[in-house]
Amino acid sequence: MTGITMKVVGVIGGAKRDGNTYKLVKAALDGALEAGHTTVTWRLMDVYIGHLGHFADEILPPIDDFEKMQPDLESMGALVLGSPIWYGHVDTRTFNFINRTYVYNRSYSEENAKKWPNAKAVNILTYETEDEHTYDHILEWYNHIWDWYGMKESIGLVAAGTTKKPVAEQKELIERAKEIGRNL
Ligand SMILES: Cc1cc2nc3c(=O)[nH]c(=O)nc-3n(C[C@H](O)[C@H](O)[C@H](O)COP(=O)(O)O)c2cc1C
Repeated sequence: MTGITMKVVGVIGGAKRDGNTYKLVKAALDGALEAGHTTVTWRLMDVYIGHLGHFADEILPPIDDFEKMQPDLESMGALVLGSPIWYGHVDTRTFNFINRTYVYNRSYSEENAKKWPNAKAVNILTYETEDEHTYDHILEWYNHIWDWYGMKESIGLVAAGTTKKPVAEQKELIERAKEIGRNL
């Protein structure tokens, strides 16, 4: 155990409880635990995240479970966000979660836009295509969002070819995820 301990928040999209995405996020969180950090896991399939509304020139937050997540997001040192690729992008739950963060503390403001200034992001993607670079543009997309949110680092990790080789069989990759978690 070294250095400062912090809260590492895992947020998991997709539709499988114990799928590729969960396994790789869990490996990163296990690494974080080994380094002495605390971890919290939110599965997006278990919470209701609504859609943004609009009234009288204001973007309105829906009444949903996002506010239950917000205390963890506010106090985190790192976010480990895992998503499978669905039709060329992050899955719908992950996409909706990211959209939902636009309205923070019940409103959009310049101040809220810089909502996680000292946090790091670990962006995990899992997908069937076997090329490790096919979805580099999605990792770039994450980098832009986290930069806009004032986060201090954005790290990408992909599991390619998960149909032929599920994450459970990619021992080296699991080890790499743990290493990322240990080094947060
Ligand atoms: C609705 C749907 C759409 C998908 N679209 C893509 C895709 O566009 N590209 C790709 O490489 N894999 C695609 N896949 C495969 C998943 O990304 C892959 O199986 C992933 O590892 C699943 O993660 P999970 O086990 O956590 O659910 C798709 C799977 C589903 C269910």
